Amino acid sequence: MGIKLAPSILAADITKLGDEVRRVEEAGAEWLHLDMMDGHFVPNLSFSPQVVKALRPQSKMFFDVHLMLSEPEKYIDAFAKAGADLITIHLESAEDRDGVLALAEQIHSHKIPAGISIKPKTPVEDLTGLLSAFELVLVMSVEPGFGGQSYIPETTEKIAKLKELINQENPEILIEVDGGITADNIALPVSAGADVLVAGSSVFGAKNPADAIAVLRQNATKGR
Ligand code: DX5
Ligand code: ZN
Repeated sequence: MGIKLAPSILAADITKLGDEVRRVEEAGAEWLHLDMMDGHFVPNLSFSPQVVKALRPQSKMFFDVHLMLSEPEKYIDAFAKAGADLITIHLESAEDRDGVLALAEQIHSHKIPAGISIKPKTPVEDLTGLLSAFELVLVMSVEPGFGGQSYIPETTEKIAKLKELINQENPEILIEVDGGITADNIALPVSAGADVLVAGSSVFGAKNPADAIAVLRQNATKGR
């Protein structure tokens, strides 16, 4: 699979969200990253299933919904019904391994793929034995909660390590990286094995998001 870019609407101008989404779609972004925060799992609030539902008829992009919620089981069904194409939960939000597997099952019951995310301080080893239950792993390259932070350099090494575990457990799984991705550093996660790159500020904060997407893609390809 080629590299996929996933602009994050957290950095978009919410007073004209529909236009912002169309803009990145026309610029060739394949995925749209939608961050959901509950003020508990992370110290911030963001969107709700209503936003997913409102944007759904506006776009054909793949809706990549990232749940930073303490009790994702309460909201998975609503996000799926609102039009999510993939739902990612956090490993840290489940009580135990059975809890993680139950979340994957709940997402799959809606006939959509499931992702599992780990925060920067969570070691890759904690995913051992869980990868065959998911279609995607989302590696956080900043502490979740806010856009506009800097890429944590150790993430690159972490992705490479994850790649080894994936080769043993589920070679088909996609690796997504989220946080602080810019044109200057995008080749790093890609060279380590990332397939999907989330970019908030570096796309929506740019004067011309279409140009930003083109440069991100060009530089990402150099990492392969
Ligand atoms: C952070 C979010 C990210 C965020 C990335 O908790 O999960 O998706 O929007 O934003 P940038 O690209 O600005 O770091
Ligand atoms: Zn995210």
